[in-house]
This record gives sequence, structure tokens and C-alpha cells, in this order.
Amino acid sequence: MKILAFESTCDETAVSVVEDGRKILSDEIFSQANLHAVYGGVVPEIASRCHVESIAILAQRALDSAGVTRKDLDAVAVSYAPGLIGAVLVGVNFAKSAAMALDLPLIPVHHIRGHIAANYLAYPELEPPFVCLAISGGNTLIADVRDYTDIRILGATRDDAAGECFDKAARVLGLPYPGGKPMDDLAQGGDDLKYHFPVAHIEGRPYDMSFSGLKTAVINLNHHAEQTGEKLDRSGLAASFAKAVSDSLVPRAMMAVRKCGYSRLAVAGGVAANSRIREDFRKAAEAEGVSLYIPPMKLCGDNAAMIGAQGYYEYLAGVRAGTDLNAYANMDISQDYRTLPVCR
Ligand code: KG4
Repeated sequence: MKILAFESTCDETAVSVVEDGRKILSDEIFSQANLHAVYGGVVPEIASRCHVESIAILAQRALDSAGVTRKDLDAVAVSYAPGLIGAVLVGVNFAKSAAMALDLPLIPVHHIRGHIAANYLAYPELEPPFVCLAISGGNTLIADVRDYTDIRILGATRDDAAGECFDKAARVLGLPYPGGKPMDDLAQGGDDLKYHFPVAHIEGRPYDMSFSGLKTAVINLNHHAEQTGEKLDRSGLAASFAKAVSDSLVPRAMMAVRKCGYSRLAVAGGVAANSRIREDFRKAAEAEGVSLYIPPMKLCGDNAAMIGAQGYYEYLAGVRAGTDLNAYANMDISQDYRTLPVCR
């Protein structure tokens, strides 16, 4: 089954053709990061405009590079939540039009479910149940993936997402947007014990996380240094920061695997590209005999192949949308699309 998939929830416009949920036939991505870098973050209006300008071109490219025609397609999938509402609407409307014009079923896909499914593309042997830590620019959560479409949240951030925290810390240090990769590069060879950053714990909610205190600690450290003329060890700061984020994520995710009684742990989302976090997970999983799945860098960030992968399993579960499909800025990952109030 060949699915044409669309992703436009933030600042990547992406279109892909995926076969049977596991094989990428094409994966076209246009990143707008350079357009937003000058503002130090994503400007929603610019993101929406740019999606409008590029989505049709990418759709044609995705078909061409997959070597398929419109007639070869069996369904259309689109990420419909969560994200920047104007940006999500572009993908949803384009996908609705494509499905209608080609007379194909339309499959709505939750963006974070898509991130989790990036692991199905990278690891053909991976099947639920497993625990997944999803860490991106807008979301951070630990999920119990009981089945392909039965996903429950065990814990989530109470405030900032891990990626957002990386981006804000990078901005304080004068690094370009998006700041995760530059922070990662700066941390290489740095002393991770140079600065002590807080790792938040939430009473009675062992799987919940908080990153706003960490962000504030970096801002305060920088502010204090500016006022006193102290020269910061930037590499040590980046390494200590990465350690604090990793210390928030890795033990909690491992604890969730133990609690669920599983032997598999997946990590997903843009922050899964972080070298410190990857290495800490590798060590922890090895120590506990847990099989670890982290997608290759290209599948960590936003892409449409992951939407096509999850779309396949949503399709098998009977999930379909009509022309009344709406876009949503917020949506619980465990919510079944079929239980949403119909919007007309
Ligand atoms: O999943 P993603 O591409 O978009 C969202 O759905 O949000 O994640 C983007 C986030 C950004 O915050 C970016 O700074 C972060 O992923 N990121 C990283 C790294 N590469 C990207 N964070 C830490 N270390 C990295 N190497």
C-alpha cells in the first residue's frame, strides 16, 4: 500500500511516499530554518506562507523521486495536530484536496505519533509494545506504546519542551537558531561538571519533567557573568547543560520501561539527535539489557515519511477523515481521531 504523506506542523514542509508503513520510496523536505534564523525563532506567519509556496512543488517531487504516478497511490496521510495552527492548516488543506481529487482515503496522523513511527522506518523488526520518549522542539513526553494506535502518556513536560530549552539556552549564548545542534557541537570536549544545573522532580508525578528552571538557570548564569565581567567557559556550560537535560530524560525513560515490564525503548524527535543523550541512552540500555531504538539523524527531525509510516497503521485501524478534517494546535497523543467532535 502506497501512501502520499504530508507534514507542515512547524518550519519544515515535507512530502513523502511510503510503502506498507515501513519502506520510504521518497522523502522530500524543505527546511525553512534559514528564513527564521534571523528572528531567533519560528515566525508563524512566515512559516505558513512558506508552506503554501513549497508544498505543491514538493508533492510533485515526492512522486517523481519515488518513481510513482498519482494512479499508484492508495491513500493520503497528513499530520493534523499539534503544531502552529496556520502551518498545520496548509498541509491539511492540501492533503484534503489531493485525497478528494484522486478519490483516495484521507488519514489524519498525530504529529508525535509520527515521530514515534520514524522508528518503524529505521527498524523493520520493531513492533509494539515499547516505551517511547518523544523529544522535539514543541513536545516532550514519555509514552507507553501498547499498540500501533493505542498510545498512552506516562509523563510529559510541565512547561518547556526539551528542544525549546536547547534553543533558548543557545540564544543566550549567541548561537544561531535552531540551537540544539550548535549547543551539541559546542559541548564536544567540554567539562560537563563545570556548572551545576537543576534537574527538576515533580512530587507524585515521577514521569513528568520540567525544563523552565534549567532555562532560567542558564539565563541567570549568563546575566551574572555579564554583570561581573566573568568569562564563561562556554564549552563547559554547553556540556553541563546537555548533562542536565539528559539526566532529566534518561533515568525517567528507563524507569518507564521497567514499570511497563517491556524490554524495548524507542527515542524520537529532533532532540534525539543530541550526541550526549544518545550516548547516555546507549549506556543505560546496555546496562539494563534493554533494546534501544533511536532513528538516524535524518528521521529524528520533522519529515513526512514518519507520517506515512504511522498513517499506514492508522489506516489499518480504520481511521479515516473526511473533508471536514480540521487542524489543531494542541492534541493529546492518546486521543483517537474518531472521538473528536466533528467540525463543519
Ligand atoms: O522534531 P523537530 O525537528 O521539530 C519539532 O517537531 O519540534 O525538533 C526540533 C528541535 C529543535 O528544538 C532543535 O534545536 C532540536 O530539535 N535539535 C537538537 C539537536 N538537533 C536538533 N537538540 C539537541 N541536540 C541536537 N543535536
